[in-house]
Amino acid sequence: MQKWVVANWKMNGSKNLLNEYKKIFQKHEKLIVCTPFIYLGESAEINLGAQNIHWQPKGAYTGEVSASMLVEFGVKYCLVGHSERRQHFHETNTDVRAKAETCLGADIMPIICIGETLEQYEANQTHEVLERQLAECLPRGQGFWIAYEPVWAIGTGITPTTDEISEVHSMLREKLPNTTLLYGGSVNGDNAATIFSMPNVDGALVGGASLDMATITKIYSASAK
Ligand code: 13P
Repeated sequence: MQKWVVANWKMNGSKNLLNEYKKIFQKHEKLIVCTPFIYLGESAEINLGAQNIHWQPKGAYTGEVSASMLVEFGVKYCLVGHSERRQHFHETNTDVRAKAETCLGADIMPIICIGETLEQYEANQTHEVLERQLAECLPRGQGFWIAYEPVWAIGTGITPTTDEISEVHSMLREKLPNTTLLYGGSVNGDNAATIFSMPNVDGALVGGASLDMATITKIYSASAK
Protein backbone atom coordinates (compact mmCIF):
# COMPACT_ATOMS: atom_id res chain seq x y z
CA MET A 1 0.00 0.00 0.00
CA GLN A 2 1.28 3.44 -0.84
CA LYS A 3 2.48 5.41 2.15
CA TRP A 4 2.00 9.12 2.85
CA VAL A 5 4.57 11.76 2.06
CA VAL A 6 4.11 15.02 3.95
CA ALA A 7 6.49 17.77 2.89
CA ASN A 8 7.19 20.43 5.50
CA TRP A 9 8.85 23.36 3.83
CA LYS A 10 9.23 25.24 7.12
CA MET A 11 10.20 28.88 6.31
CA ASN A 12 11.59 27.87 2.92
CA GLY A 13 10.36 27.55 -0.62
CA SER A 14 9.08 29.95 -3.22
CA LYS A 15 6.37 30.33 -5.83
CA ASN A 16 8.69 28.57 -8.25
CA LEU A 17 8.99 25.55 -6.00
CA LEU A 18 5.24 25.47 -5.58
CA ASN A 19 4.82 25.50 -9.35
CA GLU A 20 7.18 22.53 -9.60
CA TYR A 21 5.12 20.68 -7.00
CA LYS A 22 1.93 21.48 -8.90
CA LYS A 23 3.43 20.10 -12.10
CA ILE A 24 4.70 16.88 -10.59
CA PHE A 25 2.27 16.12 -7.79
CA GLN A 26 -1.15 17.25 -8.89
CA LYS A 27 -3.69 14.51 -8.28
CA HIS A 28 -1.16 12.58 -6.22
CA GLU A 29 -3.42 11.84 -3.35
CA LYS A 30 -0.78 10.69 -0.94
CA LEU A 31 1.42 13.77 -1.05
CA ILE A 32 0.66 16.73 1.17
CA VAL A 33 2.70 19.90 1.10
CA CYS A 34 2.81 22.12 4.17
CA THR A 35 3.90 25.51 2.88
CA PRO A 36 4.25 28.85 4.61
CA PHE A 37 0.80 30.46 4.94
CA ILE A 38 1.35 32.87 2.09
CA TYR A 39 1.47 30.11 -0.52
CA LEU A 40 -1.63 28.27 0.63
CA GLY A 41 -3.96 30.19 -1.65
CA GLU A 42 -1.95 29.34 -4.73
CA SER A 43 -2.17 25.64 -4.94
CA ALA A 44 -5.64 24.16 -5.23
CA GLU A 45 -4.36 21.31 -7.42
CA ILE A 46 -2.42 19.61 -4.65
CA ASN A 47 -3.08 18.61 -1.04
CA LEU A 48 -2.25 21.51 1.18
CA GLY A 49 -1.24 21.65 4.78
CA ALA A 50 -0.55 24.57 7.06
CA GLN A 51 2.35 24.55 9.49
CA ASN A 52 0.46 26.24 12.30
CA ILE A 53 -2.98 27.49 13.33
CA HIS A 54 -4.40 29.65 16.10
CA TRP A 55 -6.83 28.04 18.49
CA GLN A 56 -9.19 31.01 18.71
CA PRO A 57 -11.79 31.47 15.96
CA LYS A 58 -10.89 35.15 15.48
CA GLY A 59 -9.74 38.23 17.31
CA ALA A 60 -6.85 40.48 18.20
CA TYR A 61 -3.99 38.03 17.59
CA THR A 62 -1.67 39.91 15.27
CA GLY A 63 0.23 37.66 12.91
CA GLU A 64 -1.96 34.61 13.45
CA VAL A 65 -4.24 32.63 11.12
CA SER A 66 -7.54 30.99 12.08
CA ALA A 67 -9.08 27.67 11.15
CA SER A 68 -11.87 29.25 9.10
CA MET A 69 -9.27 31.15 7.03
CA LEU A 70 -7.41 27.93 6.30
CA VAL A 71 -10.66 26.22 5.32
CA GLU A 72 -11.49 29.11 2.97
CA PHE A 73 -8.27 28.36 1.11
CA GLY A 74 -8.89 24.63 0.87
CA VAL A 75 -6.41 23.57 3.52
CA LYS A 76 -7.15 20.08 4.79
CA TYR A 77 -4.16 19.33 7.01
CA CYS A 78 -2.20 21.22 9.62
CA LEU A 79 1.00 20.45 11.50
CA VAL A 80 0.51 21.01 15.18
CA GLY A 81 3.19 21.14 17.86
CA HIS A 82 6.21 20.82 15.60
CA SER A 83 9.32 20.83 17.77
CA GLU A 84 10.46 24.08 16.15
CA ARG A 85 7.21 25.72 17.30
CA ARG A 86 7.76 24.29 20.77
CA GLN A 87 11.39 25.43 20.83
CA HIS A 88 11.27 28.86 19.22
CA PHE A 89 7.70 29.92 20.00
CA HIS A 90 7.35 28.21 23.37
CA GLU A 91 4.29 26.16 22.46
CA THR A 92 3.25 23.88 25.28
CA ASN A 93 1.38 20.59 25.25
CA THR A 94 -1.71 22.52 26.34
CA ASP A 95 -1.39 24.81 23.31
CA VAL A 96 -0.90 21.82 21.07
CA ARG A 97 -4.07 20.18 22.35
CA ALA A 98 -6.06 23.41 21.89
CA LYS A 99 -4.79 23.75 18.32
CA ALA A 100 -5.55 20.12 17.53
CA GLU A 101 -9.10 20.52 18.86
CA THR A 102 -9.55 23.67 16.77
CA CYS A 103 -8.46 21.69 13.69
CA LEU A 104 -10.93 18.90 14.44
CA GLY A 105 -13.73 21.42 14.84
CA ALA A 106 -12.97 22.78 11.35
CA ASP A 107 -12.51 19.45 9.58
CA ILE A 108 -8.79 20.03 9.23
CA MET A 109 -6.65 16.97 9.97
CA PRO A 110 -4.18 17.84 12.73
CA ILE A 111 -0.79 16.19 12.32
CA ILE A 112 0.40 16.26 15.91
CA CYS A 113 4.18 16.18 16.25
CA ILE A 114 5.84 14.49 19.20
CA GLY A 115 9.42 13.53 19.90
CA GLU A 116 12.16 13.46 22.48
CA THR A 117 15.23 15.71 22.68
CA LEU A 118 18.77 14.35 22.47
CA GLU A 119 19.17 14.71 26.20
CA GLN A 120 16.00 12.71 26.83
CA TYR A 121 17.05 10.09 24.27
CA GLU A 122 20.45 9.70 25.91
CA ALA A 123 18.79 9.35 29.30
CA ASN A 124 16.58 6.53 27.92
CA GLN A 125 13.45 8.60 28.48
CA THR A 126 12.00 8.34 24.97
CA HIS A 127 8.91 6.30 25.86
CA GLU A 128 8.19 8.27 28.98
CA VAL A 129 8.44 11.58 27.09
CA LEU A 130 6.24 10.38 24.26
CA GLU A 131 3.64 9.03 26.65
CA ARG A 132 3.49 12.34 28.45
CA GLN A 133 3.17 14.22 25.19
CA LEU A 134 0.36 11.92 24.09
CA ALA A 135 -1.44 12.27 27.41
CA GLU A 136 -1.22 16.06 27.27
CA CYS A 137 -1.49 16.84 23.54
CA LEU A 138 -4.13 14.52 22.17
CA PRO A 139 -7.44 16.22 21.51
CA ARG A 140 -10.76 14.95 22.71
CA GLY A 141 -12.26 13.35 19.64
CA GLN A 142 -10.99 11.22 16.82
CA GLY A 143 -9.35 11.88 13.53
CA PHE A 144 -5.83 13.12 14.12
CA TRP A 145 -2.48 11.90 12.81
CA ILE A 146 0.72 11.57 14.80
CA ALA A 147 4.20 12.36 13.53
CA TYR A 148 7.05 10.94 15.56
CA GLU A 149 9.97 13.30 15.08
CA PRO A 150 12.91 12.81 17.43
CA VAL A 151 14.20 16.35 17.91
CA TRP A 152 17.80 15.19 17.54
CA ALA A 153 17.05 13.71 14.11
CA ILE A 154 15.59 16.91 12.66
CA GLY A 155 17.91 18.57 10.19
CA THR A 156 20.93 16.67 11.47
CA GLY A 157 21.29 13.89 8.91
CA ILE A 158 21.10 11.43 11.82
CA THR A 159 18.18 9.04 12.19
CA PRO A 160 17.29 6.52 14.87
CA THR A 161 18.03 2.90 13.97
CA THR A 162 15.28 0.95 12.24
CA ASP A 163 14.77 -0.96 15.49
CA GLU A 164 14.30 2.26 17.40
CA ILE A 165 11.77 3.62 14.90
CA SER A 166 9.94 0.29 14.87
CA GLU A 167 9.82 0.12 18.62
CA VAL A 168 8.33 3.60 18.98
CA HIS A 169 5.87 3.05 16.17
CA SER A 170 4.65 -0.26 17.52
CA MET A 171 4.07 1.42 20.90
CA LEU A 172 2.12 4.16 19.10
CA ARG A 173 0.15 1.62 17.07
CA GLU A 174 -0.80 -0.26 20.20
CA LYS A 175 -2.12 2.89 21.84
CA LEU A 176 -3.68 4.40 18.71
CA PRO A 177 -4.63 1.51 16.43
CA ASN A 178 -6.57 3.55 13.87
CA THR A 179 -4.27 6.55 13.67
CA THR A 180 -2.02 7.40 10.75
CA LEU A 181 1.56 7.38 12.07
CA LEU A 182 4.33 9.30 10.33
CA TYR A 183 8.05 9.26 10.99
CA GLY A 184 10.04 12.48 10.51
CA GLY A 185 13.67 13.49 10.98
CA SER A 186 16.35 13.40 8.27
CA VAL A 187 14.28 11.40 5.81
CA ASN A 188 16.08 11.52 2.48
CA GLY A 189 16.21 9.87 -0.91
CA ASP A 190 18.46 7.10 0.38
CA ASN A 191 16.70 6.07 3.59
CA ALA A 192 13.06 6.64 2.57
CA ALA A 193 12.50 3.13 1.17
CA THR A 194 13.67 1.52 4.41
CA ILE A 195 11.48 3.82 6.49
CA PHE A 196 8.43 3.18 4.31
CA SER A 197 9.01 -0.58 4.56
CA MET A 198 8.33 -0.58 8.31
CA PRO A 199 4.89 -2.00 9.05
CA ASN A 200 3.77 0.60 11.60
CA VAL A 201 5.06 3.58 9.63
CA ASP A 202 2.27 4.97 7.46
CA GLY A 203 4.35 7.70 5.93
CA ALA A 204 7.09 10.27 6.32
CA LEU A 205 7.23 13.92 7.32
CA VAL A 206 10.03 15.37 5.23
CA GLY A 207 11.75 18.69 5.89
CA GLY A 208 14.94 19.67 4.08
CA ALA A 209 14.70 16.93 1.45
CA SER A 210 11.31 18.27 0.33
CA LEU A 211 12.93 21.41 -1.05
CA ASP A 212 14.73 19.58 -3.83
CA MET A 213 12.47 18.29 -6.60
CA ALA A 214 14.68 15.34 -7.54
CA THR A 215 14.84 14.19 -3.94
CA ILE A 216 11.16 14.58 -3.08
CA THR A 217 10.28 12.79 -6.31
CA LYS A 218 12.57 9.93 -5.32
CA ILE A 219 11.01 9.80 -1.85
CA TYR A 220 7.53 9.82 -3.38
CA SER A 221 8.45 6.94 -5.69
CA ALA A 222 9.76 4.97 -2.70
CA SER A 223 6.45 5.53 -0.91
CA ALA A 224 4.60 3.66 -3.62
CA LYS A 225 6.66 0.47 -3.48
P1 13P B 1 14.34 17.30 8.20
O1 13P B 1 13.71 16.32 7.23
O2 13P B 1 14.98 18.47 7.54
O3 13P B 1 15.21 16.59 9.18
O4 13P B 1 13.13 17.92 9.03
C1 13P B 1 12.19 17.07 9.57
C2 13P B 1 11.05 17.88 10.02
O5 13P B 1 11.15 18.65 10.95
C3 13P B 1 9.79 17.74 9.29
O6 13P B 1 8.75 18.34 9.98
